[in-house]
Amino acid sequence: MATLADSFVAPAAEIAAAFGTLDADELVFVLQQCLEAGAWDHALALTDALEGVEQTPGIRLCRAVATFLSGDTAGGLSAVDEVLAGGARPLPALSVRAEMLLRLGQREAARESLLELVGRYPDYPRAQGLLATLYMPGPHYREVLARLHQLLRPKTYLEIGVDTGATLALAQQSELAVGVDPVNALRVRLPPNARFFEEASDEFFAQRGRDAVFGPRRVALAFIDGLHRFENALSDFANVESWSDPAGTIVLHDCVPILARAAARERSTKFWVGDTWKIVPALRAYRPELKLTTVLAPPSGLVVVRRLNPGSRVLSERRDEILQRFLSLPFERAPGDFAPELNAVQNDDSGLAQALGG
Ligand SMILES: C[S@@+](CC[C@H](N)C(=O)[O-])C[C@H]1O[C@@H](n2cnc3c(N)ncnc32)[C@H](O)[C@@H]1O
Repeated sequence: MATLADSFVAPAAEIAAAFGTLDADELVFVLQQCLEAGAWDHALALTDALEGVEQTPGIRLCRAVATFLSGDTAGGLSAVDEVLAGGARPLPALSVRAEMLLRLGQREAARESLLELVGRYPDYPRAQGLLATLYMPGPHYREVLARLHQLLRPKTYLEIGVDTGATLALAQQSELAVGVDPVNALRVRLPPNARFFEEASDEFFAQRGRDAVFGPRRVALAFIDGLHRFENALSDFANVESWSDPAGTIVLHDCVPILARAAARERSTKFWVGDTWKIVPALRAYRPELKLTTVLAPPSGLVVVRRLNPGSRVLSERRDEILQRFLSLPFERAPGDFAPELNAVQNDDSGLAQALGG
């Protein structure tokens, strides 16, 4: 058993005297507090001292986690399996099992538990995020964006969909970074070169000219991460490209959903990317000269678009036709079955080099 650096657990009699009147629900609460505090030794001591309390699945799971954290990983995992063997296969046990298996490097088994978990309740905390990291290993999309800033050193940056400002703040080296979002939810300190427009992107492009925002410069790097609807992604792309440098780069977020439910037009889960993904087949069909490469960065990929043509009017002129053709497209891919049109590359520097090369 592993030992904590500053390990001390009160004698069993003292624990029993202090906690002996707790019912099972209250005991689970205390056990969770112990685990959150990293005090797995105290959690084990509590369950030892209060053996008389009914051993509910919640108590057994807390004990299993404490056992696992103590270093007895096989014991912890088999205790979870015993809870699952009870018949009802409780969701928390599936979640705990998946997290233990991930820590043990057993990715395939972890994936099975997570798929069962999201199949029964797609919003289970952390489940979709963890699943995404299994299908798309490597750095989180914000780290990949940070790397793109390092590699490209764009003088001008435009972001559609800013939220807290976490990605706009990555444009530290740019001379001018512009963010557009109808909601001001900024929490991250922005660099002095940043300007924020509290506007919906359609309104922003309709009311403002490039000269007024960027002066004589064109956009060197753009990140489109606004409203998760195909039609918005399409107009955002067309507008952003018209302001872009032909040698520039546009990055699209949320085009690689793992679950069909998250890829639906109508939102029915917390983790939701909407039908933004339809922009990839649409661009392939209507703008074959663009170079599209998808870096499989969790949780929902980054499509890197190069060989831009700011003079192209195809997407705006044929918008109705494009919407009619792609709006009703169903998402029929199984998790991890990445569409060939994504031109998926690994989520590392070699993948980024492929995306940015040529
Ligand atoms: C996923 S968040 C952006 C996250 C941010 N880029 C990041 O990575 O941290 C999506 C944002 O799009 C914004 N949004 C919604 N509708 C929009 C629109 N029509 N134009 C621009 N942004 C929009 C939302 O207010 C929300 O802040």
